[in-house]
Amino acid sequence: MEAKKAAAELAIMDVHDGMIVGLGTGSTAYWAIQGLGLRVQNGLNIQAVATSVASENLAKELGIPLIPFADITEIDITIDGADEVDADWHLTKGGGGALLREKIVAFSSKKLIVVVDESKVVERLGTFPLPVEIVQFGYELTIRNLQALGCEPQVRMADNQPYVTDNGNYIIDCYFGSIPNPAELHQAMNSIPGVVENGLFVGMASQVIVGYRDGSVKRLV
Ligand code: 5RP
Repeated sequence: MEAKKAAAELAIMDVHDGMIVGLGTGSTAYWAIQGLGLRVQNGLNIQAVATSVASENLAKELGIPLIPFADITEIDITIDGADEVDADWHLTKGGGGALLREKIVAFSSKKLIVVVDESKVVERLGTFPLPVEIVQFGYELTIRNLQALGCEPQVRMADNQPYVTDNGNYIIDCYFGSIPNPAELHQAMNSIPGVVENGLFVGMASQVIVGYRDGSVKRLV
């Protein structure tokens, strides 16, 4: 927890008055939202958009002003976690099930700051199963098409039912073991009808901040 908090607390120092801020999802983004809430209570003047219902509710609780997507064209900075970060700063995201909203927000952000603890930093993506959001219609067939890309797919479950995202879709966790070419896989997955989005964030991170067990924190260069 300390490592995630330390990374998040450094990241929020890049947020300044007047910015539109994207709020990530997960236990690391949680600390960023908490920190921003404190700064807002002390006079920081920002507006925010959230990447999940959970983050939106937390922002509301903390008094962070939220702005409708209809009112913005661009987001100045987004701070979000990741499940894996490789040597080229490509990411696997979606462990918390929010990958679609996270990618929509990241895509329209001038800067995406990724906050992780040291366990997330890997040479190559793929040990963490790749989450893929798919529509419910014909999901058995979509799963077979995902499997044909070389993974072992598993429907994410919650309370003995398929887990349903904030967007009403299923998440399939795809066990690849290793993903040698994230850009190619990203394209192949999103070409399958029924796939809404996959958790590979290729070339989207502007900065990666890593927190360590001893409480230290480092911006990767
Ligand atoms: C949610 C995500 C999270 O950013 C990712 O799962 C990392 O979570 P945490 O910070 O709790 O380890 O992509 O969809």
